[in-house]
Amino acid sequence: MPRLPTYPTIVRQVDPQAPDPQIIAEAAACLREGGLVAFPTETVYGLGANALKERAVRRIFVAKGRPLTDPLIVHIARNEQLATVARAIPAVAWQLVTAFWPGPLTLVLWRAPAIPPLVSAGLPTVAVRRPSHPVALALLAAAGVPVVAPSANRFGHTSPTRAEHVLADLAGRIEMILDAGPTPVGVESTVLDLTVEPAVVLRPGGVTVEALSTVLGYTPQVLERAAGPVKSPGLLERHYAPAVPLILIEGPAERARAALRQRALALARQGRRVGLLLYTEDQAALGPLPARVVDLGSLRQPEEVARRLFTALRTLEAAGVDVILARSVPDGGLWLAIRDRLRRASSEVVSV
Ligand code: TXA
Ligand code: MG
Repeated sequence: MPRLPTYPTIVRQVDPQAPDPQIIAEAAACLREGGLVAFPTETVYGLGANALKERAVRRIFVAKGRPLTDPLIVHIARNEQLATVARAIPAVAWQLVTAFWPGPLTLVLWRAPAIPPLVSAGLPTVAVRRPSHPVALALLAAAGVPVVAPSANRFGHTSPTRAEHVLADLAGRIEMILDAGPTPVGVESTVLDLTVEPAVVLRPGGVTVEALSTVLGYTPQVLERAAGPVKSPGLLERHYAPAVPLILIEGPAERARAALRQRALALARQGRRVGLLLYTEDQAALGPLPARVVDLGSLRQPEEVARRLFTALRTLEAAGVDVILARSVPDGGLWLAIRDRLRRASSEVVSV
């Protein structure tokens, strides 16, 4: 195995609302010159590289241990830049841009010649988004180039919602991390494929299907994990996984809680250290259990659950549990993205 070059990863604290322009300029210069800079977006931390420099883009795959077959999202500072990244842009794309950018919506369109094929894993398409986080916007504007940014985690690991998560996964592999505290949305952007008609959601995320339908005029289909040919390879794998097995229990609340309780007790009796991801309502219903419990927040507040989910997975992992138990959530709105991430993180799904 060839040894990776190492970098003294610099962490710079920035104000999430008003980042220091000097630090932004330093990070932007690093990006332009082909360096790797992790930065906060409203969804998760991204690992940025100059999208126009193939050498820089290649370093992303190496740093993450990501296969070259998994395409990247191009991030831009202004809506008009979309025309330099994609071509043959349909009118509906501009309507979606007007409605949802800056924000957690990624559009898959036909790739413009300026974007190296490596960005899209050789596909004729390209994924593009304009994030809303003030630090991301300031960095993208200062860089003056489109920036590819996958989630800033090792390939297959949980996406980072805090700078500490990035450091834990990528220290020594990247030049810089902009630390602006926890990210406000907590799950990744919605990926919408506009190269097919009707449009298809390849990954549910921060913009809900219901919201998309108000602009599209129809409810787009959401690609299920096992359905059809592999449209986007990276989307179909177990992908957001913590380093410990996660058993996901799906079913009506009462039955799922009972199954959760039973499993937790049985595993604890076998001497396993159990981690539980629970909703606030579940904790009262279940009472004390021999497990390390992390509160995901109330079932009445999906935004809070989304914000906490990835940190909760990393917290249990760091606590040294042998197995994590969680129960699934209902359909609809942001729950769709949360359920999707729970399923992808799971090693076993049990229906009750
Ligand atoms: O919220 C987000 O989207 C975050 C932040 C950093 O912006 N980024 C992110 O990137 O989640 P990543 O690389 O972890 O996930 C991008 C997903 C991948 O699953 C990839 O397969 C899909 O988008 N994707 C990218 N380009 C595509 C394309 N041309 N066609 C279909 N899917 C694509
Ligand atoms: Mg990712």
